[in-house]
Amino acid sequence: MTGVDTRQPTPDRIMHIANGYWATGILGAAAGHAIFTHLEAGAGTAAELAVRADISERGAQTLLDGLLGLGLVELHDGRYRNTAESSTYLVEGRPTSLSEFAKLKMTHMGSLADLSEVVRAGGPIRNATVEVADNPHWEKVVTAIAAQSTPVTAIVADLLGLADAGEISILDLGGGSGIFSAAWLGLNPAARSTQLDWGPINAIARRLVAERGVADRFTCVDGDFHHTEVATAAYDVVVYSHVAHQEGPDDNTALFAKVRAALKPGGTLVVCDYVVDDDRSGPSFALIFAGEMLLKSKHGGTWRRSDYRDWLVKAGFEDVTFHPTPSPTTVVLAR
Ligand SMILES: C[S@@+](CC[C@H](N)C(=O)[O-])C[C@H]1O[C@@H](n2cnc3c(N)ncnc32)[C@H](O)[C@@H]1O
Repeated sequence: MTGVDTRQPTPDRIMHIANGYWATGILGAAAGHAIFTHLEAGAGTAAELAVRADISERGAQTLLDGLLGLGLVELHDGRYRNTAESSTYLVEGRPTSLSEFAKLKMTHMGSLADLSEVVRAGGPIRNATVEVADNPHWEKVVTAIAAQSTPVTAIVADLLGLADAGEISILDLGGGSGIFSAAWLGLNPAARSTQLDWGPINAIARRLVAERGVADRFTCVDGDFHHTEVATAAYDVVVYSHVAHQEGPDDNTALFAKVRAALKPGGTLVVCDYVVDDDRSGPSFALIFAGEMLLKSKHGGTWRRSDYRDWLVKAGFEDVTFHPTPSPTTVVLAR
């Protein structure tokens, strides 16, 4: 009898990966036309979505087919609806919504064509995005990624008991949208926070923090965190979130030493990043993200737990712990 040998590998996964940009495109276009928001509000067919999103019915059906193929919508009795995941993470206006991030990623697709050359060169072949002072790149990125940090702010607040910590002083290096300050000042009415970032980014953070009604306890310092002085023994908590991956080993060690001096005795450094296992066997998001840093930074990468531990110990920290979260971000606490 002849038949398909199920022990043979199939090309299916490789076809999906080679065409991975289809997924970025379908998700980005669906987010751009607020498809998940319209589905949540009750639209359930291509015809209904076409009217609500002001797009063609053929386009709406194509997006729905693609989203079903990607597992981002469900189909029941001829009507589409969001999966639980899409409802939580892709409907606009929710604190965890990644819809802006999905739209932003559409604009990053072209730069990936440089990756072969970048791999040969060992670093960026155009401007090294993250080393350019005041790069407008960040203005688009920081609001788009704020939602990624929202669940992490809650996890760290629990780990450190921040809500009941009283009059604490927080410093956020490269705080971006101000999401950590906004969340923690909201939880703890006696806390104060300072963010050190580029001027135009701090302007964005001031807006978000003001929207949350806690701007009176939020201060910004404009500048480069490598060179701007920070007060000594002044902070209970210092945050360094989604920044370590853009820096090389020497800069991370120097920044950790600067943070050690800025912390009060017993204070905690909170690093949030995509951390790789010591034997480089996972996790998969952190392993894959390294390509983004090869493309955009001269010295960045995704670093192993042992790298963080070495740099932190060199910088004077004694107690280093790792806390994986349900997102791709791992929290590193150092005291
Ligand atoms: C990937 S974003 C992370 C934002 C935020 N910490 C978060 O987790 O959502 C990196 C941030 O670091 C800031 N940044 C990068 N290099 C910097 C530098 N040399 N000095 C000050 N800020 C910098 C960027 O402006 C941006 O706000």
